[in-house]
Amino acid sequence: MSNRDTAERSLEHWSEAGRTGMEAFYALATEDYRQLALAADWTGLLGERAHDGWSLLDVACGSGKFPTALRKYTDLSSLPEMSYDLLDPSEFSVAEARSVLGPPFAARHDLVMTLQDLPDEYSGYDVLWATHALYALPPAELDAAAERFVAALAPGGLGLIAQATAASHYLAFYDAFRAGVREATPYTTAEQVRDALVRAGAEVRDQRVTYTTGTSDRAVAQGFLQRCAFDDTVSLEEMEAAPVLGDYLASCRDASGSYTFSHEAALLWL
Ligand SMILES: C[S@@+](CC[C@H](N)C(=O)[O-])C[C@H]1O[C@@H](n2cnc3c(N)ncnc32)[C@H](O)[C@@H]1O
Repeated sequence: MSNRDTAERSLEHWSEAGRTGMEAFYALATEDYRQLALAADWTGLLGERAHDGWSLLDVACGSGKFPTALRKYTDLSSLPEMSYDLLDPSEFSVAEARSVLGPPFAARHDLVMTLQDLPDEYSGYDVLWATHALYALPPAELDAAAERFVAALAPGGLGLIAQATAASHYLAFYDAFRAGVREATPYTTAEQVRDALVRAGAEVRDQRVTYTTGTSDRAVAQGFLQRCAFDDTVSLEEMEAAPVLGDYLASCRDASGSYTFSHEAALLWL
């Protein structure tokens, strides 16, 4: 079992070696991005800001599931081409996201770095988003990250951080994992992100969406949960038998053994 802390395990897993785990995770987690695509009038929101030479920064771009969901579930055909910068400390993630972009998104700069490290000259973005992105960002570095996020947005630009709330599956699961399997730095919650954005001077509108994901396939459940913890050394049986974590997982399971996970995402609009 890796003894590394949360942020290092995240980086370790966002790699070619972690591809199988990533794919197992998205058997269920693709729904997170469909929910975000359907939660707003994206055609209108982006259309209002569209102009020649406009730009977007995708913070913690991962493998590009959000732009993929937007292109699948919304109509972006009227929008002009947009320069799309990809930021992620994982070179693997940046390359993955770049490979799935399509109109109106045209990949521009690869920024292989954390949000906290984004240099001042990267600013003036018409659109700036971070979707299910900042869980592994250490809470102690959150204020610096929020300041960088707020400063990078052009006046009148559209900013969004979408993040699960403290009661939501990703946070509740990792708290139980930390209590029952091994200690680590907790994930950052939507509430912490919202407070940090406000401290950084942003006016934030907090929209919530709730939904469930689930599976009756134990292999799918195991793959998903291992990625939720960035730990593929603990089996589903071991997780179910662990103190605290076992109770949490029992609360997600029905009599037939099927799993249902409850999610609440905050859409923090700037
Ligand atoms: C779940 S993925 C994000 C998914 C992505 N938004 C999408 O649309 O598919 C999380 C990503 O956050 C990145 N990450 C972790 N810590 C970060 C930090 N401090 N700043 C920026 N990105 C970070 C990871 O490397 C990983 O690629």
